[in-house]
Amino acid sequence: MVSVPSNRGYEITAASLSKRYDGYEIEETHGWFLDMLPPAPLSVLDIGAGSGRDGLHYAAKGYQVTAVEPTDAFRKIAMAKDGADAIEWLEDTLPELALLEERAFDVVTLIAVWMHLDVDEREEGMVRLNELLNPGGLLVMTVRHGEPPEGRLMFEIADEEVIEAARALGLSLVSHANVESIQPLNKAKGITWSRFAFRKGLS
Ligand SMILES: C[S@@+](CC[C@H](N)C(=O)[O-])C[C@H]1O[C@@H](n2cnc3c(N)ncnc32)[C@H](O)[C@@H]1O
Repeated sequence: MVSVPSNRGYEITAASLSKRYDGYEIEETHGWFLDMLPPAPLSVLDIGAGSGRDGLHYAAKGYQVTAVEPTDAFRKIAMAKDGADAIEWLEDTLPELALLEERAFDVVTLIAVWMHLDVDEREEGMVRLNELLNPGGLLVMTVRHGEPPEGRLMFEIADEEVIEAARALGLSLVSHANVESIQPLNKAKGITWSRFAFRKGLS
């Protein structure tokens, strides 16, 4: 397993977290960007794929999916699911994502991952995300705000930092919102999520 500060705490909690992650209604949590995805065939890179919930959804829609997940326990759970054979699974980490070499994708998603990276990793990571996008491609990110769960490394990240880092690379902001957590316990604690979608220019 790739063990980095950013995936601290996930190996031992992956089984219970997978049950929780798989319980979310994808149309409810991701509906805000699913309509932006052009029809298949498209290549989708899901970074920090967790239980594989999203990758399997995209694959079922006919997209060609690559899922990156550094935590062994998550990858094993995800790869054992029906439909997982249609997905390319990689054990790799932001910010380098070295296994992806010179490849690029039509859609890159990071759902609930970015807040695990420190400031230097985020700086390097945004450059890498831009490289991984095809011209005209869509970058989708969600970032958690508020008290971190016990045992995990998270940073408080201002929306402006994300928007400015992407803008500096020529990525255009096409959607941005800050919303309450849909989990009752987290909502009560004041946990919110920022959602971003950026489009890479065609030239
Ligand atoms: C909160 S979970 C989200 C999982 C999934 N995206 C979802 O929405 O259910 C964060 C995920 O990011 C992964 N992760 C942590 N550090 C990472 C890194 N440096 N590069 C890629 N993934 C990372 C963790 O292993 C974990 O699967």
